Amino acid sequence: MSIVCKINGKNTEIHGHPDRRVVDILREDLALTGTKEGCGAGECGACTILVDGEPRLSCLMMAAQLQDKAITTIEGIGESESLHPVQEAFVEHGAVQCGFCTPGMVLSAVHLLSHHPEPDRNRIRRALSGNLCRCTGYIKIVDAVEAAARDMANIDFKIKILGALSVGDDRKMSIPYLLPQSLCDLWGMMRAFPDATVYAGGTDLLVKIRSGSVPPKNLICLERIQELKGVVDHGNRLVILAATSFSQLLHEPAITKHLPILAKAIACLGSPLIRNMGTIGGNICTASPAGDTLAPLYALNARVELASEAGVRSLPIDQFIVGPGQTVLKTGEILSAIHVEKPHPEAIQHFEKVGHRNALACSLASMAAIIRLSDDGIVMGASLAWGSVGPTVITCPEAVDRLVGQRLSADRLAEAAAIVKKAVCPITDIRATADYRRTVAGNLLLRLCDQSICCMGRRE
Ligand SMILES: Cc1cc2nc3c(=O)[nH]c(=O)nc-3n(C[C@H](O)[C@H](O)[C@H](O)COP(=O)(O)OP(=O)(O)OC[C@H]3O[C@@H](n4cnc5c(N)ncnc54)[C@H](O)[C@@H]3O)c2cc1C
Ligand code: FES
Ligand code: FES
Repeated sequence: MSIVCKINGKNTEIHGHPDRRVVDILREDLALTGTKEGCGAGECGACTILVDGEPRLSCLMMAAQLQDKAITTIEGIGESESLHPVQEAFVEHGAVQCGFCTPGMVLSAVHLLSHHPEPDRNRIRRALSGNLCRCTGYIKIVDAVEAAARDMANIDFKIKILGALSVGDDRKMSIPYLLPQSLCDLWGMMRAFPDATVYAGGTDLLVKIRSGSVPPKNLICLERIQELKGVVDHGNRLVILAATSFSQLLHEPAITKHLPILAKAIACLGSPLIRNMGTIGGNICTASPAGDTLAPLYALNARVELASEAGVRSLPIDQFIVGPGQTVLKTGEILSAIHVEKPHPEAIQHFEKVGHRNALACSLASMAAIIRLSDDGIVMGASLAWGSVGPTVITCPEAVDRLVGQRLSADRLAEAAAIVKKAVCPITDIRATADYRRTVAGNLLLRLCDQSICCMGRRE
């Protein structure tokens, strides 16, 4: 069994199991040991590589996913005799101590500078927020990236890095069962391997397989099926295809314009690396009460579309998710799309998540709210949903009833918040106590006062 790809500009044939992790292939088979493995679970970024020019976590990719791809590892970015300017800057600015995080940091920085040649410090921090350093501290790392941007101002590194990446598709793939290229291929593979597990970005499934909480089985990856990617605008309704990555969704004008509530949730999900790989369909099918897209999708009254070889069915998201990690997906079915009616253009769309830090933080509590106010501030309609405070997303119709028909004010919100605190049923775990989560769930509602005032201010 062989996988053909281009690694650091060289055509490469990889032999062996398609379900070996890319980090292992790089380090063990190809002696590209610059790629490090820290956590093995998507959390540290030490294993970052560029795949077709985009940063990916090699600990959460299977070898088969390399087929026909162009990979750049840290060994591939400099000239044979000299370091890349980002590497030079890391050395000059003392941005390296043990060096374990450095290859991943450098590759994320190279990607950033190839798209944003003059980033400010905040943009640099955001771009590196999926790459953790346990010893240097981030100030020198950010200094180094800033300096590299200045050094590279006159050199077209975007062309140098990305231009080398096209791969000729002159070899037939020998493991087609793993990477269907179309829905038609997929149905055939699901028939041939009825007990195979379907996955998309792998940021949940591959972590669970590695930790042993899910047994390894045949895997079918949806990442190459173009029919499952993108957003279709049907006028008053958007159809979000299930295997669309979070990064792609953040670049979709239809999402940022009509569903800012979802865009806000996605922008704080995981890290840039997780958002490059993870998909909205994977977030829904994982059915974690902490899944960041779920509260917005409940507030939007989204419907999910489930497809199988036999046809398509559709149901409201709150009937699809029936418990933590539990959905009504049947054998032979996949989640193919999410259907959302566009909210009224003047509706306030608000999402807020409370976590331990800004990036790579599982939510302790989150709230999504869509509220319509009349010109004189009366609540004409409201849709509210909370994440991480119950076995599934909690909606609280009693709190909505308390608000609708009333003038939106701190007092009304406080009354509704008191109802919410009683309605939620959070658990205590290592991240937070149930009491803390209950209090935060109520307090998140109080923020709507600021949101509505901002919104009304804009209208005046
Ligand atoms: C370091 C790290 C940080 C994270 N941070 C966050 C966070 O802040 N917020 C958050 O919400 N999540 C977070 N996650 C979880 C994860 O990234 C998301 O849930 C993501 O959306 C999963 O998408 P995926 O495509 O990678 O799913 P996969 O891992 O590919 O699949 C997840 C599950 O869904 C099934 N599945 C996937 N797609 C389909 C489909 N179309 N049809 C049927 N079944 C399907 C798979 O069989 C599997 O059971 C984090 C994960 C990691 C590793
Ligand atoms: S090894 Fe930590 S993210 Fe891959
Ligand atoms: S330099 Fe040691 S982890 Fe970053």
